[in-house]
Amino acid sequence: PRRRTSAPSSVRAADEYVAPDGPEVVDAEARRGAGPVRKVSLTATASRLELGGGLTVPTWAYGDRLPGEAIRVTAGDTLELALANHLPQATTMHWHGLALRNDMDGVPALTQQAVKAGADFTYRFTVSRPGTYWIHPHSGVQLDRGLYAPLIVEDPKEPLAYDKEWVVVLDDWLDGVDGSTPDAVLDELTGGRGSAHDAAGHKAARRAADGDAPSRLLAGASSDLLGGHAGDVAYPHYLVNGRRASDPSVFEAAPGDRIRLRVVNAGGDTAFRLALGGHRMTVTHTDGFPVRHTGTDTLLLAMGERYDVLVTAGDGVFPLTALAEGKESSALAVLKTGSGEIPPATVRPSELDGELVTADRLAPDESVALTERAPDRTVRMTLTGSMDAYDWAFDGKPYDPAARHPVKAGERVRLVFTNRTSMWHPIHLHGHTFAMAGTAPGARKDTAAVLPGRSLTVDFDADNPGLWMLHCHNVYHAEAGMMTVLGYL
Ligand code: C2O
Ligand code: CU
Repeated sequence: PRRRTSAPSSVRAADEYVAPDGPEVVDAEARRGAGPVRKVSLTATASRLELGGGLTVPTWAYGDRLPGEAIRVTAGDTLELALANHLPQATTMHWHGLALRNDMDGVPALTQQAVKAGADFTYRFTVSRPGTYWIHPHSGVQLDRGLYAPLIVEDPKEPLAYDKEWVVVLDDWLDGVDGSTPDAVLDELTGGRGSAHDAAGHKAARRAADGDAPSRLLAGASSDLLGGHAGDVAYPHYLVNGRRASDPSVFEAAPGDRIRLRVVNAGGDTAFRLALGGHRMTVTHTDGFPVRHTGTDTLLLAMGERYDVLVTAGDGVFPLTALAEGKESSALAVLKTGSGEIPPATVRPSELDGELVTADRLAPDESVALTERAPDRTVRMTLTGSMDAYDWAFDGKPYDPAARHPVKAGERVRLVFTNRTSMWHPIHLHGHTFAMAGTAPGARKDTAAVLPGRSLTVDFDADNPGLWMLHCHNVYHAEAGMMTVLGYL
């Protein structure tokens, strides 16, 4: 029997939170300086969006577009974002990947009180590092609706030379399709409030997408190349930049242009394999941090991960295909530099089966490599849970905001995750960027997948005081309980 293991964050008592705005947080922010103030306003609102091919869905979004309009600032700026909450639920804004001041991190009942329905909140902090980031709520499963947008932090001394920039946001979609919502999916997965049969709308969507699926919402049993299951939910649609594959967005450039792709996986429950037909890619960054330039045919992005790559455009029309890992469906965008037909929705560039450089095989750019140092503290966690019980957790203990893994400012901290489940778990750390640990110093990242039966070791320097979430970026796993907190002593 399945049971509910945690309440959605939106119903956590608002007065549980401890404002982490002590002098250490203020001092850390002062060390980041305070550059020119960039003001942005954003409204989280119910909206009807067109996803291509005439499909219109009711959803929640930042304004009336998907993804929300990219926020662009320059490293060193002070970002001041006024969030107006026109949703019928409380929300927050989280700045995925930014090492910012803790009380602006956007975790309800931990770093701030949630922004109530109808209320406003102004976030204000220094953005210290360039890179490709993104924003989303940290309230329940809201990010599996249309509430996400890229956050691009420009480098005032940009070292890369390129002609054009193409921001590519990947997503899995079910919200508003035949009445389904992410909340209903969470309820059904967790056996939560109401009966599973109340999620009839979602079931209809699933049936439409996947005629003879044997059970509920579950994705088919096909295993991917790297093993285990990358996601739980069979989505009716996959999107690139808010469009379905049958009616893709088209990016225009000239033959020979050097194009910088900034790719974000905003999916709630889907890892994507991405390739641009007819092109090799040069990986330049992952999770906003530079790596030693490395050629590859295809990329694999777990939920929350980002990659920046350079390509030199050929002459013609080329598919950028995002294949949902372990599933048969894909999303599509198109690069057009010359004449030719728009490729069909089902196009599968051969590069998808070519060389794949995974994050553990990337080396950091020297400027961001962690110095060699023995860890002062090692925190070991086992990823636990099963599909049947839907009780995803760290060490079998569901999320408790009051239970914290202590770390101390100035320490080198090692995190060791062991995955005892059959699922992928993309682990994300707030407020810091860890180094993938191995024989040599690894790439700097804030999100990395731990595959079934495997373990992942990462190191980080505890240099940003506060209370920081550590969680699986599968939004359904996180809400089922696979979240925990690192707290500075
Ligand atoms: Cu992108 Cu805690 O999340
Ligand atoms: Cu997970």
